[in-house]
Amino acid sequence: MSQRVAILISGGGSNMLRLVESMTGDHPARPCLVVSNDADAGGLAKARALGIPTAVVDHRPFGRDRAGFEAALTRVLEAQTPDILCLAGFMRVLTEGFVSRWQGRMLNIHPSLLPKYRGLHTHARALEAGELEAGCSVHEVTAELDGGPILGQARVPVLSGDTPETLAARVLEQEHRLYPLVLRRFAAGERGRVDI
Ligand code: GRF
Repeated sequence: MSQRVAILISGGGSNMLRLVESMTGDHPARPCLVVSNDADAGGLAKARALGIPTAVVDHRPFGRDRAGFEAALTRVLEAQTPDILCLAGFMRVLTEGFVSRWQGRMLNIHPSLLPKYRGLHTHARALEAGELEAGCSVHEVTAELDGGPILGQARVPVLSGDTPETLAARVLEQEHRLYPLVLRRFAAGERGRVDI
């Protein structure tokens, strides 16, 4: 029986797209939902064009009531009975309550070589620090922001003249390779780390 995968996005959804496109044939998982906290997220149209069920749970009406937003999000998720959640450019910080409900079944991609550069503006910080290499990480989500077990990493060189934008574009290409690879292994029950 295929693992059902719900993907959470906030923006363009290029990682979501690669994940959806990868779940075919003998892949042990299939996409069951793409949900965004932003109705204007470009990834929603991409998911709809592929026939994937979509939903929006706008976080703004909830204000600072994170638990309220997450209760609404949980209702939408549970309706599709996912086995795995993939955060793919999902820009809301999740509470410990939400994370504990899904811990062990929730992945995230982060655009740095964790544990370095948790949080935001990872490429600008790496350039500022004079790093010679950068990359991305797929990890299990725990209550510690960007801190869960690392399941995979991909590395890229930092080139002279790089800006945060040029470095982000180089890393994003590797995100699109890494996330589908890690999801396939995870859905097959593998938990070992892969480096590409
Ligand atoms: C990616 O760089 C990802 O690492 C970060 O947000 C970006 C999402 O891009 N979390 P997309 O929406 O998947 O195109």
